[in-house]
Amino acid sequence: MDKLIIEGGRPLKGEVKISGSKNATLPVLAATLLTDETCVLRNVPKLLDTNTMVRLLKALGKDVDWDKDKLIIMSNGKPSPVADYKLVSTMRGSICVLGPLLTKLGEAKVSLPGGCVIGVRPVDLHVKGVEALGAKVEVEAGYIIAKARRLKGARVYLGGASGPSVLGTANIMMAAALAEGETIIECAACEPEVEELANFLNEMGARIRGQGSPRIIIHGVKKLHGADYRMSADRIEAGTFILLSAMAKNSNIVVRDCDYHQLTALDDVLKKVGATVVSQKDVVRVKAPKVLKPVSVTTYPYPGFPTDIQAQYMALMSLADGVSVVRDTVFPDRFMHIAELNRMGARIRREGGSAIVEGVGELCGAPVVASDLRASAALVMAGLVARGKTEIRRVYHLDRGYENIDHKLVMLGASIKREKE
Ligand code: UD1
Repeated sequence: MDKLIIEGGRPLKGEVKISGSKNATLPVLAATLLTDETCVLRNVPKLLDTNTMVRLLKALGKDVDWDKDKLIIMSNGKPSPVADYKLVSTMRGSICVLGPLLTKLGEAKVSLPGGCVIGVRPVDLHVKGVEALGAKVEVEAGYIIAKARRLKGARVYLGGASGPSVLGTANIMMAAALAEGETIIECAACEPEVEELANFLNEMGARIRGQGSPRIIIHGVKKLHGADYRMSADRIEAGTFILLSAMAKNSNIVVRDCDYHQLTALDDVLKKVGATVVSQKDVVRVKAPKVLKPVSVTTYPYPGFPTDIQAQYMALMSLADGVSVVRDTVFPDRFMHIAELNRMGARIRREGGSAIVEGVGELCGAPVVASDLRASAALVMAGLVARGKTEIRRVYHLDRGYENIDHKLVMLGASIKREKE
C-alpha cells in the first residue's frame, strides 16, 4: 500500500486539467453489456475503479483494450450472467451490471455490494425497479439472483428515504432499454452522470427522453448497437480542485475542462464564503478570500450540494472565521474524515447527521489515515495548506477516483511524494 507525504504551505500556481468522469464511466461501461457490437469510449480516466470495472466486464464476456485514454470493448462470444463477489465487493459501482445482464441475458447473479465506511448502502430500489419490470428476484448466499424471459415496461417510482438513487436509476434505465414497451421512471436521479448514460444509450439506439429530470421515459427496443462516445469531465474532481483553490492562500489555480454549470450549488456557496470566482467556457479560476466566512451547507441529490464534495468542503470550513454546520442528507454517516481532520488541528464535532465546524486559524501537519475516497481528498487538501508535514496512509482510496492526483498537484507546485507503506 502507498502513502503520501505532503509538505504543506507551498503556493499552488498553474493549470490543472480535469479527467473524464469516473461516475459517468462506470455505468457507461456496464451499458456496453447491452450489445454484442464493439463500443469505443474516449476520455476514460485511468483509475482503480475503472480497472475494476474492466476486469468485471472481462469476467462477463468482453475483451477490453486500453489505448491511452480510449477503451475498446468487444464481445468475446462467452457472455456470463455472474458478477463475482471478489470484484463487486471492492467497488459498489459494479452493482450497475445487474440491469444490463438481466435484460440482455434473461438472468443475472450479482453479488450484494455490502456496506462501506460511508454507511449502510442498501439495494432495495434496484431490486424494486427490476421487479416492477417483471423480474423474479431472490437474495441467496450474498447474491441477488434475478430472472426474466423478457422484461416488460412499467411505471416505477424510485424515490427512497434519502431521495432518488443514482445507480438505481442507471440500472432500471438500462434494463428498460431492451424491455418490451414503455417504462416511466418517477423520482429518477437527475445527476449529470445519469443524463450522460441516457445519451450514451441513445447513441446505441435506445429511445430515452427526460434524462436530467425526475421523470425519465424509456421506449424499449429489441436490439442495441455499438457506439463511439467521449466521456465528459469529472465534476467531483473539478469541485475538489475548486475547493482547494478557495482554501490555498497566495495561490492561483486554473481549472480547465470543467463544466461549471454542473456545480451551481458549489458556486453559490463559494460566493458566500467570500471567494472570487471567474468562469469562462470550460475554465474556472477561484481565488481564496483573505478571511473565509463560515457558511453552513446541507447535501442533497443533484442539483443540490453534492455529498461527494462534503468532506472537501468541511476541510475548507475548518479554516473559516467562525462556526458552520455541514449536514449530509444523502449519506448521514459519511463523517469518517472528522477525526482525521481534528488530528490536524481542526475543531469539528459530530451531532447526528451534522458536523459542527469551529474554524481555526491554521491546520498543522500530522500522520492521518484515508478512510474513503472523498475523505482522502479532504485530507490531501488539508495537508497542502497545513503547516509542516502530513503523512496520509491508505491512499489507494484516492487512486480509486482521482487520476494522477500527485502528478497534477506537483505540477501546481505542491511538495508531495508517494512512498510504499
Ligand atoms: C452514486 C455515486 C456516489 C455518490 C452517490 C450519491 C457512483 C459510482 N457513485 O452512488 O459517488 O455519492 O451516487 O450522489 O456513481 N439508497 C437506498 N436504496 C437503494 C439505493 C440507495 O435507500 O437501493 C440510498 C442510499 O443509502 C443513499 C441514497 O439512497 O442514502 C443515495 O444513494 P445512491 O444515489 O444510490 O448512491 P449510489 O448510486 O450508490
